[in-house]
Amino acid sequence: MPELPTSAHGASAADVIRQCATAAGAILLERFRRPQEIGSKGRNNPVTETDLLAEKTIIGIITESFPDHAILAEETRSDTKSQGWMWVLDPLDGTRNFANGIPMFCTNIALVHNGVPQLGVTYDPVHGELFLGIRGGGATLNDEPLHVSEKRLAQSVIGVDLGYSDERAAASLNLLATLRPVTQTFRVLGSAALSLAYVAAGRHELYLHNYLFPWDFAVGQLLIEEAGGVTSDRIGEALTLEANSILAGAIGAHGELLDLIRDVPLE
Ligand code: IPD
Ligand code: CA
Ligand code: CA
Repeated sequence: MPELPTSAHGASAADVIRQCATAAGAILLERFRRPQEIGSKGRNNPVTETDLLAEKTIIGIITESFPDHAILAEETRSDTKSQGWMWVLDPLDGTRNFANGIPMFCTNIALVHNGVPQLGVTYDPVHGELFLGIRGGGATLNDEPLHVSEKRLAQSVIGVDLGYSDERAAASLNLLATLRPVTQTFRVLGSAALSLAYVAAGRHELYLHNYLFPWDFAVGQLLIEEAGGVTSDRIGEALTLEANSILAGAIGAHGELLDLIRDVPLE
């Protein structure tokens, strides 16, 4: 496990990531439910001027603190370096909620080494909840330790989100119809990152998404693993930054759900 780096100004990586998250979170909060420009990145895929402003702010702090590190940021930056240190971030996860005045969204920032998340923060500024994961150092919510649930599939609440592909969303919805009788219920929060943090906090037993990106899941992967849970893609392969699906949660329930969905075509 690599030692976390120290910034050009002598700050710890954990301090820098908190600084990024709280600076971006303040921007989201200040502009929430205010009139603003909303553009589109494709059918059903909005982007607001606040996404861009928050991303610019985070990238500014990172480049000043760690000028040599690569950055993969959802809206504006996609360094291709896969070895060494890389920041993987989504300035605003839950843009649809944000644009519609629904108070469920977050800032999501991971520090990855050779493709493996080592440090990550998911910050929900509306509820004042800061989820922090440190590889080998645990997962916390506002500095209190997190633990995944121990419930089995039959007692589980499964977080799901539908992504931006109509075909894959339809496949997920069909799957949910078949899973309903063997579980408790589903939650579609509209922020994959927040829902993954909720798994680490034991609020959902499981999370399933059939089409998402590393800036959506890298922090949640770390939080869940550090909170005692297990992560994979939807067919049970180990997660890498190239994965585009995730199945994560309590160990027993994860295995039970995987057995049910592994062979179901979801594309
Ligand atoms: C999206 C949200 C949504 C999920 C999508 C993500 P965005 O992120 O997490 O819940 O279904 O797959 O892309 O666009 O709000 O950053
Ligand atoms: Ca996202
Ligand atoms: Ca986003």
